[in-house]
Amino acid sequence: MAKESIGIGLIGLGIVGGQVAKVLLEKADILAEQAGCPCVIRKIKVLSADPDRPLAREIPAGLLTTDTDEFFAEPGIDIVVEAIGGENPALDYLKRAISRGQHTVTSNKEVIAKHGTELHALARKQGVGLRYGGSVGGGIPLIAPFKYDLVANRITSICAIINGTTNYILTRMEREGIDFPSALKSAQELGYAEANPANDIEGIDAHYKLAIMASLAFQADVRPGKIYHEGISRLDSRDFRCARELGFTIKLLAIAKLINNSIEVRVHPAFVPEDSLLAKVDGVHNAILVEGDLVGKVLFYGEGAGALATSSAVTADVVSSAQDILHGVSDRAVRKSASAISIKPMAEIETRYYLRMNVADQSGVLAQISKVLGDNQISISAVIQNEADITAQVSEIMITTHPAHEKAIQQALGELAKLGVVKEINNFIRVESD
Ligand code: HSE
Repeated sequence: MAKESIGIGLIGLGIVGGQVAKVLLEKADILAEQAGCPCVIRKIKVLSADPDRPLAREIPAGLLTTDTDEFFAEPGIDIVVEAIGGENPALDYLKRAISRGQHTVTSNKEVIAKHGTELHALARKQGVGLRYGGSVGGGIPLIAPFKYDLVANRITSICAIINGTTNYILTRMEREGIDFPSALKSAQELGYAEANPANDIEGIDAHYKLAIMASLAFQADVRPGKIYHEGISRLDSRDFRCARELGFTIKLLAIAKLINNSIEVRVHPAFVPEDSLLAKVDGVHNAILVEGDLVGKVLFYGEGAGALATSSAVTADVVSSAQDILHGVSDRAVRKSASAISIKPMAEIETRYYLRMNVADQSGVLAQISKVLGDNQISISAVIQNEADITAQVSEIMITTHPAHEKAIQQALGELAKLGVVKEINNFIRVESD
């Protein structure tokens, strides 16, 4: 007998969960038309049944429960939407739902990045869908293109700005010449960065998102633990000035490249040419540049976070799951893991570099520095020396290199630090082009 409605169980009624509930209620008619029948919230698992919570009036109190067992015992839930974030108990809830034969929807990047392979296997075994369109890039359609629209391609690279908070901070530093702590403070005041901003500023959030995209793009099991990640807290306003002088800006990039049968996956700040597409992505926006052998370069751009944007992706996943249920199928996309693909150690990557250091203002200094670089097979592409501080007898030099191996640059940095004429190595940043 045809189903008359699809039952939704929602876990979490916070920023994302609350917005999803609102959309399911306010757009019920449109969603019913799209899905093929009404999608009805049957139960909502919350941490506390606070009567003063937002949505208290719109959502009948009887739908709320704080009891996990009561939530899972509720009959008629076809789709479980997990909207609490974090690894646990979200992972347990997803496993429990899948094991019960319920389709699942989540925007939880940490769980999917760390446990996506096992959850996919479990969902496949149970014949249900596991959807996570909101886990990367908020409302930007990204997961579905990787799963469906780009499958005829051999994806060769992803170069992305996928953390809005850090992009906001870097944009402020670049535009206003302010330092990192002031830009971070401003991001916190505006509610972009959390009180503990480590997840964003240390590249942790971005490396989860890159793990998800790389796993889909390369049909590989790319775990976050295998992804090199470095944040933006070492950047100084002087780096932005140097970048500008050399025709670059600085962005936190998430990069995945397929080279022969091996992939590079890394998250770090990078110099990008000021006329490149990614250099123009400002503020909290995200942009993901994907290159495939058939499609060429495609750019996905938009709001990468926020309740409204994320609810767009989560609700679409609910509708897709409802359509599958009505048609008696599970998610038709297959996630394979190509075991032949290996992840390149960071030491083996090859890219260009920028170095900024304080050196003694005396003759023969550049010769000593270029000897160290030359001995490590690193070729210099540009050198800028600022006016010396006469009292301190120190001057600042910036060097950019031609492509070199990471291992060689690390070795050279160690040797440079030991030179008596090098007072301080202030920063080194990789230089990328899209
Ligand atoms: N904290 C993330 C960002 C949003 O700043 O992009 C959630 O993924």
